[in-house]
Amino acid sequence: MRTRIPPSRAHFEIEGGQMPVLIGAKRESDFTDPVGMLGDCHRRIVRFLQVLVTLTTHHTEGTLTDDQRAALTASLQYFRVSAPKHTADEEESLFPRLRRLGTPEAGALLAKIDSLEEDHQCADRHHAEVDRLGQLWLDEGQISLENARRLSTLVNQLADLYRHHIGIEDKEVFPFASTVLSQADRQEIGTEMAGRRGLANR
Ligand SMILES: [Fe+2]
Ligand SMILES: [Fe+2]
Repeated sequence: MRTRIPPSRAHFEIEGGQMPVLIGAKRESDFTDPVGMLGDCHRRIVRFLQVLVTLTTHHTEGTLTDDQRAALTASLQYFRVSAPKHTADEEESLFPRLRRLGTPEAGALLAKIDSLEEDHQCADRHHAEVDRLGQLWLDEGQISLENARRLSTLVNQLADLYRHHIGIEDKEVFPFASTVLSQADRQEIGTEMAGRRGLANR
C-alpha cells in the first residue's frame, strides 16, 4: 500500500503552520523519505528546546511578554503533541525493522538502540514535569524562584540528553537505516508515520 500524500500537505500538517520559514533552509522531507523526516523532526526538537532554554535562562522571575507567552505555548504544545509521535516513529516503526535485520552490523547497533529507548523514557519524565511547570507559568503569569530554577535545570538536562541522543541517531542509526531498509520498509514506515498524524492513505 503506497502513501500518497502531497508533500506540501504533509509539511503543513506536521508543522502545524507554527514554525517560521527559514530562508535557505534545507527542504523538508516527505513521507516518501521517512528517515529524512525523522532527521527533520530533530531540527524541530532542537529549535523548540532552545526556546525553553532561552526563556528559562533569561526570564525566570518576571512576567511573560506576549511574544514569550506565544513561544512558551508553542514549545509546550510541540513537546506535548508532536514530539511523542517522533518517539513512536522510532520505537514502533524504525527500530523494530532494524532489530529484525539480524545482521552483525545491525547487532552492533542494537545495544545503542536499547539505550536510545531508555533516553526516550527519561526525556518523557522530564517533559512531563516541564509541561506542568511551564503550564503553571502560563496560567499564573509568573513563576516562583524555586519553580524557575527547577524548570531551568530540567530543560538544560534535556538539552544535554538530546545533544547526545540526536547525535547517535543522526550520525549512526539513520545513515545505517538509509542503507539497509528496503523500499517496502520505507513505504510501510511512511504509511505508519502518516497514520500517527491522522493522514489516511488514499
Ligand atoms: Fe530517539
Ligand atoms: Fe529521534
